[in-house]
This record gives sequence, structure tokens and C-alpha cells, in this order.
Amino acid sequence: MQLVEALRELLGKGSVVSDQAGMEPFLVDERALYRGSAACMVFPRSTEEVAATVRLCREHGCAIVPQGGNTGYCGGATPGGEDQVLLNLSRLDRIREIDPVGMTVTAEAGVILASLQAAVEAEELFFPLSMGSEGSCQLGGNLATNAGGLAVLKYGMAGELVLGLEVVLPDGSVLDTLKPLRKDNTGYHLKQLFLGAEGTLGIITAAVLKLFPRPTDFETAWLAVDSVEAACRLLPLARRLGGDCVTSFEYISAESLALVRTHLEDVRAPLAEAHSHQLLLELSAPLPPGSLRPWLENLLEAGMAEGLVLDAAIAESGPQRQALWKIREGIPEAEKLAGRSIKHDVSVPIGDIPLFCERAPGQLAEFEPLRISIYGHLGDGNLHYNVLAPEGADPETFRAERGARVSRALHDLAAGMGGSFSAEHGVGQLKREELQRYSDPAALKLMRELKAALDPDGAMNPGKLVDP
Ligand code: FAD
Ligand code: MLT
Ligand code: ZN
Repeated sequence: MQLVEALRELLGKGSVVSDQAGMEPFLVDERALYRGSAACMVFPRSTEEVAATVRLCREHGCAIVPQGGNTGYCGGATPGGEDQVLLNLSRLDRIREIDPVGMTVTAEAGVILASLQAAVEAEELFFPLSMGSEGSCQLGGNLATNAGGLAVLKYGMAGELVLGLEVVLPDGSVLDTLKPLRKDNTGYHLKQLFLGAEGTLGIITAAVLKLFPRPTDFETAWLAVDSVEAACRLLPLARRLGGDCVTSFEYISAESLALVRTHLEDVRAPLAEAHSHQLLLELSAPLPPGSLRPWLENLLEAGMAEGLVLDAAIAESGPQRQALWKIREGIPEAEKLAGRSIKHDVSVPIGDIPLFCERAPGQLAEFEPLRISIYGHLGDGNLHYNVLAPEGADPETFRAERGARVSRALHDLAAGMGGSFSAEHGVGQLKREELQRYSDPAALKLMRELKAALDPDGAMNPGKLVDP
């Protein structure tokens, strides 16, 4: 094929893969929902190479699909045909600069999130974005999906950590807003366009990110709470008494804990007695170790006095802290080992989470028997309300027969409560119908107009999010 040869000439033979076996692992998404195809796959090494690749693809009438670590949950990085080139960012993996005074890092899109965390930590600094996939997902993918994760409560979503971006636009030109400025009100905040755009408006090649002082004191506790409502009432109390150090406020249902204990090794229940509702609460701050303990104790005492907290286990060491996090972060893997779930990622105003949880079983009644695994970022009003096949049933058949209707029922419920059908995982190709169904018509129209303005030919990640 002419384009593949031209790409080999442009990037070098080692940067272009066109055989099926070589491309195979990159053509299937994380959840194995999609198997794609592409003319070839390219691994450019620099912004200039990305820009030249885009120009060449456009000359040949070929579309481009950006791909990071391929851990996304909505099939956004899976190419959809042999008229598309899969552009993998993993070789753009340099950390260009760490500025300890301005507390910023300038990093390329292909840097793996865990490597970025480690690099800044070596300078006594901290990049707070954190999630179960951090060993494989890449900065570019995190920004393109505006990822959430485990510390949004204190630090915000991925997009909120961005000061500047470098982006290759659909015409192959380079937008450079790569400034480490905290304040810059000079017109439209163009970088916002690309955060959460899932590669449909351009390819992020680098970013300037905010850093924070490295936390040196952690207090991590596993709490049993009386109900989801009690958990929601505990949240403002914890934030008030936690001195703005509450970093994570994660909910884990008894069913999710049971899945982890059944399917993962070396997992002990943190509390002696079984409870229906649990929280993983973490306080952290750049303070001498032990400083936060009185705050945590005070908070737990107040929570118990109000009848919200029933029991608590406090991590007394780093390994104990890790053991608690292993349970929370192990839930997606445990669900996978249990035959995979019908995943949901809904958000509602935080105070309405109890109402959502009260109404959801009614919405799902017609699909019984089923199993439910509820967990997630309660402090952000974001639950993963996942549905699994009943014991003994074939999970694939269950998902095929009921998946779409189960999701529709839960998404309708969230939307009816002013919530979102996708709090942090994005839209990709999986949730395009939902985007049409639940979006404000004016918002949808504006999204299409923006897409048409930047990418009139629909060459950038076609079939994802919106088309022009
Ligand atoms: P990919 O999957 O490669 O791509 C995702 C989308 O971004 C695609 O549309 C792709 O085209 C686009 N894209 C990728 N790179 C670029 C680029 N440089 N420029 C433009 N577009 C680009 N997500 C959360 O939000 N919170 C969580 O807590 C969380 N936990 C997870 C836990 C596990 C175990 C797993 C497997 C996934 C989890 N995820 C979570 C989902 C996923 O890890 C995130 O969405 C992540 O941000 C995707 O990054 P990636 O590099 O893998 O992107
Ligand atoms: C999480 O919070 O663990 C993820 O966003 C959900 C998942 O991986 O299923
Ligand atoms: Zn999540």
C-alpha cells in the first residue's frame, strides 16, 4: 500500500507495523468489546514526526486514531478500518522539564502515568493523578479522557491539572500553548477543547502540569458505615474535621469486597465483622509523619458519636496502607476474573447518591437474577454500579442478552436525577448513543460544530464521540 510505504520512508521501518500479528494486541480494547483493523500502526518519536504523519495520512485520505496505553474503557483507541492509521504515542516518552520553583512538569504524551509520578517524586514533588491502570495508561490518554481516579476529591480530574498543551491539529499544524503560567487570561482557553475530547480534535503531544508538595504523612482507614446515606453524611464532617487533607473517600460494597476476597490472592477482610457498606478514607499532607493522626481520630470519634461509623481499622504502616488500597484497586480485576461485569460509571449530585442507590434495584428488578458490585469515588458523587451474571449463569450470555437494557435503565435513572452516564470513563464508541440520548441539544449541536470547525473531514478518530 502506497501510504504504508510513504510512512516507512518518513518514520523509518522500525516505526511502522503493518502485519496483523504485530498489530493484533493494539487492535483489541481493554474490555475486549471491540476488535478493530487499520492500514498500519505507527510509533512516531517526536511532535514533528506526529505532525508529519498526520499531514501524510491526510494527503492519502486516511484517518488517524491516537492511542496511548490502550486501557480506556469505551473503545476510543480502537481503529475502525483499513482506511485508518493507528498512531501510538508510546515513544513520545520524554519528561522535558521539571521546574521545582514553579512546581510544574512538562512531559510528553507517551509518558506512563506511574513513571511521571516517580520522576517528580524523585524531586520531592507530587503529581496527584492516580488510578488502577497507572502502570500502563499514558499522560496523553489521561488528558484525552480527562481521567478521574482516586484523588479527585482533593486535586481534581486530569484536565484540572493542566496549565498548557501541545497538540497536533487535524490539518497537521501544531498548536503550542505549552506555557507554565498559572494565570493567562488572553482569550479562549483553547487547551480545554482537547481535554476529554478523546482524540477527536487533535493529538496531544505534550503538556505542562501542575505539581504539588509531596505528601509525607498519610492516614488511611477502612470504615464500616451504617448505610450509603451515613457515608454521604460523613463526607462533609470528614472534610471539615480533616483540615482539607481528605484525599480519597472511596465506597466499597460488601459484594465488591467479597469478589476481591474470592478472586485475588492474599486479601484479608480489614474488619473482623462483615458489613454491608464500607469506605476507604485517606488523609494526606506534606507534614511530619503522625501529624494527621489526631485529625483522623477526631473525625472517627465524631462519626461514631453521630452513629455514622460502626467500626474502623486504621493502617499502622505503609504495607497496611497498601493492603487496604489493594482491595479497592483490585475490584476491577476481581470482576474480570468473575467473568466480567456490565460496567457503569454514573455520577449524580453527591447528596443524591443514597436516592440513586435506593432506586436502582427497582430499575433492575426485571433483569433479576443478577449480582451487583457497587464501588467507587463516593466523595466525587461517582459510583461504579456494576452488574454481574448470577452464580452459575454464563456471564457472556448474560451480558449479551441484558447488557444494553441494564445500562439503559441505570443511565436513565442517573440522567433523571440530573446526573451523568459517564463520570470519568468517557464516551468513545461505546457510549455514543447515550451521548445523543442524554445531552442537552444545544450542547450536542455545539460539539458537532466544534468538530466540524477543527476537523471538517472527520479524519481524527472517526466514529468516536461525535462526527462532524
Ligand atoms: P487509551 O485507552 O489509549 O485512549 C483513550 C482515548 O484517548 C482514546 O479515545 C484515544 O484515541 C485517546 N488518546 C490517547 N492518547 C491520546 C493523545 N496523546 N492525544 C489525543 N488523544 C489520545 N479511568 C478513570 O478515569 N478513573 C479510574 O479510576 C480508572 N481506573 C482504571 C483502572 C483499570 C484497572 C483500568 C484498566 C482502567 C481504568 N481507567 C480509569 C480507564 C483508563 O485507564 C483511563 O481512561 C486512561 O486515562 C486511559 O489512558 P490510556 O493512555 O490507556 O488511553
Ligand atoms: C475504578 O474506579 O476502579 C475504575 O474507574 C473502574 C474500573 O476500573 O472498573
Ligand atoms: Zn473509577
